[in-house]
Amino acid sequence: MKVIRVKNYEEMSRTASEILIGEIRKKKNIVVGFATGRTPLGLYKNLVRAYRKREVDFSGVRSFNLDEYYPVAKNSRRSFFSYMFRNLFGLVNIKEGNMNFLDGEVRDWRAECARYEGLIRKSPIDVQILGVGVNGHIGFNEPGSSFSSRTRLVELSDETRRQNSGIFWRAPKQALTMGVGTILSAKKIILLASGREKMKAVERLVKGKISKDCPVSFLRGHKDLVVVTDSF
Ligand code: F6R
Repeated sequence: MKVIRVKNYEEMSRTASEILIGEIRKKKNIVVGFATGRTPLGLYKNLVRAYRKREVDFSGVRSFNLDEYYPVAKNSRRSFFSYMFRNLFGLVNIKEGNMNFLDGEVRDWRAECARYEGLIRKSPIDVQILGVGVNGHIGFNEPGSSFSSRTRLVELSDETRRQNSGIFWRAPKQALTMGVGTILSAKKIILLASGREKMKAVERLVKGKISKDCPVSFLRGHKDLVVVTDSF
């Protein structure tokens, strides 16, 4: 594990974008796992800026999103599908046919999760971008998730729902998420964390007990994990 301590959110975002752009330049048809939430917004802004300056080309990039609410309409402002278009995919030259999302509109979520796992098995993720929840969740793998969990339907904790809800909108009770085991199968993981409220989760990852009650701790054994943080 490599821990890059940075001063603030801007430096975290800049460092992460430099690393990811370097990886995209090394492998044109790279497979990237993308996260949503507040944390990667600065990274995505930097990627868009670099794309506009022709410093990076997304035409070969393939993507898998980490998670999605369930149920949720794709065109709802709240879906992670629309978040990705608004903040990155709609602003760079990534091809629609190269994007993969968990579909929060399906009835048969079991088949949907099996489909996603099959796709990831065929095109293993080269670089996974991750944020972390205050309670140590990664993706929507809440405390209690096992080390070997795969893509599945999960119940969101009250805390996560509260954090992800707005004044006029309450986050759904459930979500589809890559499992901890799925995330760990990525060749490289870049975890971003900013702010004091993430300090406990990051400490737990770097030097605390590895256990189910804090899923981010499971990442410690990964062979190529980069943590970029101002929280620690
Ligand atoms: C997002 C995701 C979540 C977030 C986490 C932190 O796709 O899977 O695990 O990374 O909830 O959210 P923010 O970045 O909003 O603090």
